[in-house]
Amino acid sequence: PFGINSLSKLSEEEEMLREAVQRFAQDVVAPKVEAMEENEKMDPEIIKGLFEQGLMSIETDPELGGAGGSFTAAIIVIEELAKVDPSVSVLCDVHNTLVNTVLRKYASKELQEKYMPKLSADTLGSFCLSEPASGSDAFAMKTSCKKDSNGDWIINGSKMWITNSAEAEFFIVFAQSDPSKGYKGINAFAVEKEHGVEIAKKEKKLGIKASSTCTVNFDEVKIPKENLIGEEGKGYKIAIEILNEGRVGIGAQMVGLAQGAFEKAVRYAHEREQFNKPVATFQGMQFQIAEAATQIEAARALVYNAARLKEEGRPFTKQAAMAKLFSSQVAQSVSGSAIEWCGGYGFTRESGLPKFWSDSKIGAIYEGTSNIQRATIYKLASAELDA
Ligand code: CAA
Ligand code: FAD
Repeated sequence: PFGINSLSKLSEEEEMLREAVQRFAQDVVAPKVEAMEENEKMDPEIIKGLFEQGLMSIETDPELGGAGGSFTAAIIVIEELAKVDPSVSVLCDVHNTLVNTVLRKYASKELQEKYMPKLSADTLGSFCLSEPASGSDAFAMKTSCKKDSNGDWIINGSKMWITNSAEAEFFIVFAQSDPSKGYKGINAFAVEKEHGVEIAKKEKKLGIKASSTCTVNFDEVKIPKENLIGEEGKGYKIAIEILNEGRVGIGAQMVGLAQGAFEKAVRYAHEREQFNKPVATFQGMQFQIAEAATQIEAARALVYNAARLKEEGRPFTKQAAMAKLFSSQVAQSVSGSAIEWCGGYGFTRESGLPKFWSDSKIGAIYEGTSNIQRATIYKLASAELDA
């Protein structure tokens, strides 16, 4: 059987979770993938199902409505969902590894108690960092925040490319209070849609079409002073430390995507006959399949190693960047090969393989482009040499 994860270090709970997510992905997600792709819209029943299954609060404390699971558990969920639909996977990834984690790690007890039960039950979240003029150079943001006479905050500006924003009711927002301080003027806020957030242009994309990506505008949006997350001026550290974790999640999404494409194509190659035998019996095919299997395994090892390092409280930033960089390369290459292994059928949308291929491209762009991962790896690897 294909798709068995050969990492040996998962706990019993983590293995059970993997099986439960596989069932959810097959029974609930798979039948809806084609229609969602056509309509470029997430099916609300899937979002509802993810919440009902407890998959939207994996690491959240049970007292706040969560499952109290490990970071690895969150990574397993992302990988398994991506095998069936990378759009559903990223919805879950952003909500868990970015939005919930910001609150869990940095917010006051009051903010956690106010928002985390809702984020566990039925309220979807978005993470608003990028802007039209600041993507890789994220700390050069223009969105501003200033205090009014009561100490509450007023946010003005535009965020771009915001995942989940068409469906979200809650937003983690980064804004600059004093450009003269550079990135040390950046603050993080817990923002409700009802505070006055405007969801604007929805992008039409190459891939992950069912995942919403919109511009989000803030026009004199007033945020209560209690909704500042962490200390004033520490927003930049919150953003990048959360992204270090998120990058492991995107690595997992890309591993799942590669595995999903691999399984579909290899199954087909076992059935499709040419020259009176299954095409998978040709050694030329077998060698390509073996290379792809090795690439996926190596990518998965990087992802789970980074996850375990993080859980053990050890440095993991370099490994997270490596996991994301390598997994997104593997996803592109394996999903491209998978199309070829299926010949003409692989080129049809019916095979599901063009979708995996188109979806794979995003791994090299969001949560820091491949060059940003390379810059991070270079910096840390060089520092290790100097140490
Ligand atoms: N981990 C921890 N701290 C880091 C760090 C990292 N990986 N990279 C930089 N920092 C810290 C530095 O230590 C420094 O802080 P101190 O002064 O306190 O030491 C500060 O950040 C600035 O460092 P640099 O001058 O080296 O940073 P920079 O301004 O050149 O760039 C960056 C920093 C914006 C974080 C950039 O490296 C980066 O990662 N850009 C990509 C942004 C990104 O990932 N956006 C994702 C948006 S969310 C998303 O995409 C979600 C989705 O699609 C699903
Ligand atoms: P740019 O920064 O303009 O990069 C253009 C090119 O220049 C890239 O090849 C890049 O690698 C290269 N480059 C830039 N700087 C350097 C450098 N220093 N060294 C070498 N090369 C460099 N953002 C959010 O905040 N929240 C979200 O939920 C979110 N979801 C997204 C969903 C989708 C579908 C997409 C497409 C984007 C999303 N983003 C989100 C934004 C995403 O994080 C940015 O697109 C990404 O960080 C790159 O920024 P940019 O698009 O401005 O590219």
